[in-house]
Amino acid sequence: MTQRTIVVTGAESGIGAACAAAFGRCGERVAILYYADRAAAETTAAAVSAGGGTALTVQAHVDDEGSVEAAFAAVEAEWGPADVLVNSAGLNMSGVTVRAMALAQWRRLLDTDLTGAFLTSRRFLTGRGTATGDAAIIHISSIHAYAVRAGGADYCAAKGGLSNLVETLAIEEAPNRVRVNAIEPGMILTPMNARAQQDDTYRRTLEQNIPLGRAGSADEVADLAVFLASDQARYITGARIVIDGGLSLMQALGA
Ligand SMILES: NC(=O)c1ccc[n+]([C@@H]2O[C@H](COP(=O)([O-])OP(=O)(O)OC[C@H]3O[C@@H](n4cnc5c(N)ncnc54)[C@H](O)[C@@H]3O)[C@@H](O)[C@H]2O)c1
Repeated sequence: MTQRTIVVTGAESGIGAACAAAFGRCGERVAILYYADRAAAETTAAAVSAGGGTALTVQAHVDDEGSVEAAFAAVEAEWGPADVLVNSAGLNMSGVTVRAMALAQWRRLLDTDLTGAFLTSRRFLTGRGTATGDAAIIHISSIHAYAVRAGGADYCAAKGGLSNLVETLAIEEAPNRVRVNAIEPGMILTPMNARAQQDDTYRRTLEQNIPLGRAGSADEVADLAVFLASDQARYITGARIVIDGGLSLMQALGA
């Protein structure tokens, strides 16, 4: 099988790191786009190499147009146009109500979790030019794209907007054989959920809300990303796939 080029953002941590490692185990070329922690990106690169893949680490701030441009140009200089984009870079909700939220907080979240998805998708697509081979974009969204939470207006709005971006892109890019999908995780044990990782009592309390009885792992999300990027998913585009152990089904409890 020929190696594909997979670009993963937020690949120095959590779900992004797990996705990079999983594509590495498939023997792919994996570009590890990281925000600031170069050492963590090198750890991901080592995992990609150990799995039989080829790794490249490149810094990218997904909310910055010039940074995204430079990162994709660096990847293309090594390997040519990318075949798959997994956009995992993101910030968590602020926990601040709208009444109390500063405009700067709102903008920071939207810039990262929504505009970042626009900038990386656009640069991935323009980098492909008129290429006609199969390609895929996978955005890591959240169940909070549709199951909202008080204190999460910034995050819920960004991920909700991401749903419409994914669906619009899916229609626009279908003629170019680029499939575009979103993964909507529930509670996944990554640094974004640091307290649940460190505090067993806290984690177990939250896990009582999950029908399958436990939080998910970054590797379980990565398995889904690998599937969505594969030929087995060739007829799936514009989909938003929930991976949450049933958590979001509990929203109407007591209704
Ligand atoms: N962990 C969960 O429970 C969970 C649930 C639903 C959705 N998600 C989503 O999954 C994605 C990955 O989250 P995670 O759990 O792996 O968290 P994480 O904190 O481990 O990883 C997020 C990564 O994004 C990077 N990042 C932040 N701002 C950036 C920017 N401006 N430019 C580039 N990179 C930036 C961080 O450096 C980090 O590496 C996020 O989009 C998050 O919203 C996570």
